[in-house]
Amino acid sequence: EPSGYNLWLPYSKISESPVLKEYTDITKTISLPGASQTLQIARTELNRALKKMLGAPPSVATSLRADPTLLIGTKDLLPPELQKMVNDDLSRAGDEGFVIKSVKHRKKKILLISANGDIGILYGVFRFLNLMQQHQSFVKISLVDYPKIDLRMLNHWDNLDRTIERGYAGFSLWNWQKLPEFIDQRYIDYARANASIGINAVSLTNVNANALILTPMYLEKVKALADVFRPYGIKVYLTARFSAPIEIGTLKTADPLDPNVKQWWADKADQIYSLIPDFGGFLVKANSEGQPGPQNYGRNHVDGANMLAESLRPHGGNVIWRAFVYSEHDADDRAKQAYTEFVPYDGKFMDNVLVQTKNGPIDFQPREPFHPMFGAMPKTPLMMEFQITQEYLGFSTHLVFLPKLYEEVLDADTYQQGEGSTVARIIDGTLQNQKISGMAGVSNVGNDMNWTGHPMAQANWYGFGRLAWDPYLSSETIAEEWLRMTFSNQEAFIGPMKEMLIKSREAVVNYMNPLGLHHIFDTGHHYGPGPWVSELSRPEWNPTYYHNADAKGIGFDRTPSGSNATEQYAEPLRSRLNDPDTCPERYLLWFHHLSWDYRLKNGKTLWQGMALKYQEGVDQVEEMIATWKQMQPYVDQVRHKEVQMLLQIQLKEAKWWRDACLLYFQTFSKKDLPEGVGKPTRT
Ligand code: GCU
Repeated sequence: EPSGYNLWLPYSKISESPVLKEYTDITKTISLPGASQTLQIARTELNRALKKMLGAPPSVATSLRADPTLLIGTKDLLPPELQKMVNDDLSRAGDEGFVIKSVKHRKKKILLISANGDIGILYGVFRFLNLMQQHQSFVKISLVDYPKIDLRMLNHWDNLDRTIERGYAGFSLWNWQKLPEFIDQRYIDYARANASIGINAVSLTNVNANALILTPMYLEKVKALADVFRPYGIKVYLTARFSAPIEIGTLKTADPLDPNVKQWWADKADQIYSLIPDFGGFLVKANSEGQPGPQNYGRNHVDGANMLAESLRPHGGNVIWRAFVYSEHDADDRAKQAYTEFVPYDGKFMDNVLVQTKNGPIDFQPREPFHPMFGAMPKTPLMMEFQITQEYLGFSTHLVFLPKLYEEVLDADTYQQGEGSTVARIIDGTLQNQKISGMAGVSNVGNDMNWTGHPMAQANWYGFGRLAWDPYLSSETIAEEWLRMTFSNQEAFIGPMKEMLIKSREAVVNYMNPLGLHHIFDTGHHYGPGPWVSELSRPEWNPTYYHNADAKGIGFDRTPSGSNATEQYAEPLRSRLNDPDTCPERYLLWFHHLSWDYRLKNGKTLWQGMALKYQEGVDQVEEMIATWKQMQPYVDQVRHKEVQMLLQIQLKEAKWWRDACLLYFQTFSKKDLPEGVGKPTRT
């Protein structure tokens, strides 16, 4: 297999480790009874992994052996005395959770993996193998784990011609032309990778949807994928183009209140469920960036979402309605628009509607404050939308460990129901008692040999999955797990690499968008700097709209003297953000327009501080290069070389960002660069 193809599941041979003897003992006699496809997958995975890690092929019995050392089975299959030992644990574990426990059975210690359902067994086996890859001991283990979020979902922005919107790792995995007959091994490997981190839903198609996906010819193909994914616990969703009844049907309107339109969608749902009985539902981008929607007919988001929800309800499906809306007609501050449009609808959506909200109020910037809708719609399940693909973060060229970004958002306190109202508690539904919860990540996967383009971007897929399972995990834990599994358990590798991953997110913020700057990317592709762009037809597409640099200063005033977007945040956060002295400096220019001479906490002026941040970003990439150089003994040659080359590009481009932004902003500030900042060169 090509380098990196196996992701975090390489199952490297364990030759020298204190746990080796323990592992050999545990795996002497393995029992994993049960006939379902899911359990068959668990057995195959176990066989493959143990053979690779321990050398000798284990024998995994499909019957309940008398004297197992490792017993894996759903509760109902366990002997009564063992059932008793896991009863309490499993009452907490739910449909998808599991327990891994070292117990005494007939005077002998055995390792027990149990769950309420087959999918819990598969998740339990994957966790067991995860821990083994980290060389952890099971001697005292008593672990109960279950997902804290119901829908743990990847959103593929894949087009039917296999291009991927904002995809930087090749073409789409879905080979529509050869489906449904031809099942690419990659579909299976993809499902396996997702199951290993607990992802249980995927939306196959771009949010800028093509209605053709809902025609019978394509639905046959979707069914083939759904059949592959089902035993891995993954449900399929599709994006629904609101104007589909006109485009692929015979109607003249897509008005959600029109009886014929309602009937069209009800029939469509029946058709889909006759092929895919566990179809997840629709993901919808409506009245956003020119996409059709209910507003085209004088209706609103509730009318649109509920009409679709009605069609799916008899089958148990969900509507995931996106809140990413902004319009040129209301452009005083784009950051305010989604909240303004959606919050009044709280409580009006049907039970099977989730409103999917990007993590911040603009658009997946290297850093944004959390979206003010979180916590502001207590009667509506808000689903998180993170971006795993790095649209504004250097594509698959720059190394950026995104769990650090996700964690910052999830940990943020909205204060919507007093202190401690973190985004994580809103998303998992516990704070506001939601009946359903969800987290989506815009996928960074394509048909590149290593799936994600940058070898280290696999960590972002992994980390997203882990946080969707448990939004309270720390990014450090995730970094360590991933590094140990993917590369090496050597401490000389783990220590420096963990630090490098953790710091990589701040590095990109520093060299692209320090101190709360945002959306100063070049137009369309969003790759390099373009703070000077000012002539685009829609004001809120222009970087100048966001940084507002002039002779006096820089930044977007979102306080009451400006757009008053801060009003959408709860107290005491609102007041804190309104005052530049108490506003966290990482958001300073997001919320304030300040003079070039404004004094930062470190005593530097704003101009100096900004220039130094850009330089710090460049320095941090230099450090990453130095660290990586030392890691050669722990990484295969191909990947070591690849990352090295990519880091060189990242360094070049960090300097490009620094130089372009500082030269441009200098035309306003008219100030010299502080000492220590590399002299920008025009190239
Ligand atoms: C961004 C991105 C688009 C995408 C949109 C969305 O604007 O650039 O490509 O379609 O987000 O999330 O709908």
